[in-house]
Amino acid sequence: MNVLVVGSGGREHALCWRLAASPLLESLWCAPGNAGIENEARCVAIDPMDFDGLVAFCRANAIDFVVVGPEAPLVAGLVDRLEADGIAAFGPRAAAARIEGSKGFMKDLCVRCGVPTAAYRHVASLADAEAFIAAQGAPLAVKVDGLAAGKGVVLAETEDEALEAARAALGGAFGEAGATLVIEEMLEGEEASYFALVDGETVLPLETAQDHKAVGDGDTGPNTGGMGAYSPAPAMTPELCEEARERIVAPLVRGLAAAGTPYAGVFYAGLMLTAEGPKLLEVNARFGDPECQVLMPRLRSDLLAALLAARDGELKDFDLRWHDDAALCVVLAAAGYPGSYEKGSTIRGIDAAEALDGVSVFHAGTARAGADIAAAGGRVLGVTALGETVAAAQARAYEAVGRIDWPEGFCRGDIGWRAV
Ligand code: AMP
Ligand code: GLY
Repeated sequence: MNVLVVGSGGREHALCWRLAASPLLESLWCAPGNAGIENEARCVAIDPMDFDGLVAFCRANAIDFVVVGPEAPLVAGLVDRLEADGIAAFGPRAAAARIEGSKGFMKDLCVRCGVPTAAYRHVASLADAEAFIAAQGAPLAVKVDGLAAGKGVVLAETEDEALEAARAALGGAFGEAGATLVIEEMLEGEEASYFALVDGETVLPLETAQDHKAVGDGDTGPNTGGMGAYSPAPAMTPELCEEARERIVAPLVRGLAAAGTPYAGVFYAGLMLTAEGPKLLEVNARFGDPECQVLMPRLRSDLLAALLAARDGELKDFDLRWHDDAALCVVLAAAGYPGSYEKGSTIRGIDAAEALDGVSVFHAGTARAGADIAAAGGRVLGVTALGETVAAAQARAYEAVGRIDWPEGFCRGDIGWRAV
């Protein structure tokens, strides 16, 4: 098969790396890719939101299957467009990807399907926001309805802070994404994630994985896209996984199918493990990044066959096999991230890091600069290692990080601490 992966991050590098090993694969392409993805796939400079360009490329290159990595093209309907043009694609169609693209849609669906989630109101005006904030009382989470690259959530300790956040968002600070807001009660507990492949009907669990969202050691400081991840995640016990599937994911998948908008793709449920059991915080319509970077090295089954089965509604009889080894990924980011940062500095030592047994360096934001690799994003590399335990994978990942020479970058020193 000729396969095109859409995206340019560490997630897409890990996907390409795993797809490249598929016996079903004839040729692998990535749009637009990055300097690391070039080692696995032929990169083509097409933007993930350029649907016309992607369709034309698929036609010209006899692409049989497209794997869409990031949420923006999914929410904007890339899978609908490709399928309408006769090109098979992995990922939810726009009507189902709304579960990530609109928090209000997700919350209303939870209520309809009886899925546990924080009490909330979906508001379109400051007057409605004020009324709910006063009625619910602080602390509160104030969220813009639409996609905001992880920046659209304010955790407000006081009613004044919540009002201020609502005023800013409704005033246009996030553009269209903030035209309406979800304001919700603050939940307490540990956060955990649940991942599954879904084919419209069947929910096939993936292995457990957990990221670290905060930029600083000890899970302190501002939130990022994820500074590292590990798999397995001991917080997600087999009992909790079963509860998440039965009480949260399966009812939502049934609800979407009943509405005539079946969900096919990766279902990533962000959970809060509260005293009353797991409650749904958010849904992502794609693999987590960097969670994908720890799941792919552990996957023994053919990834391409699995994604095709999800697209074709054939997961019912599909079985995923995993390596027993744990995996851990340390993200190297540009100084300043998640605030402003410089691009263009040179990174050395990637080969030396990868020379270590069981280590893969996934590129998240890199570009080729002559013979060198240059930083080209906020999150730049995901240094990933396998080990018999999370602790062993952690030790090896940090040994590999030590071989990378990039003075302009930084990483957290404690990825995986909850599991070690
Ligand atoms: P979200 O994008 O909705 O997952 O929110 C981003 C982050 O904000 C989550 O990963 C949580 O750390 C935090 N958060 C969101 N909603 C709540 C809530 N209702 N209670 C406590 N923390 C929350
Ligand atoms: N690592 C969090 C996410 O992919 O949304």
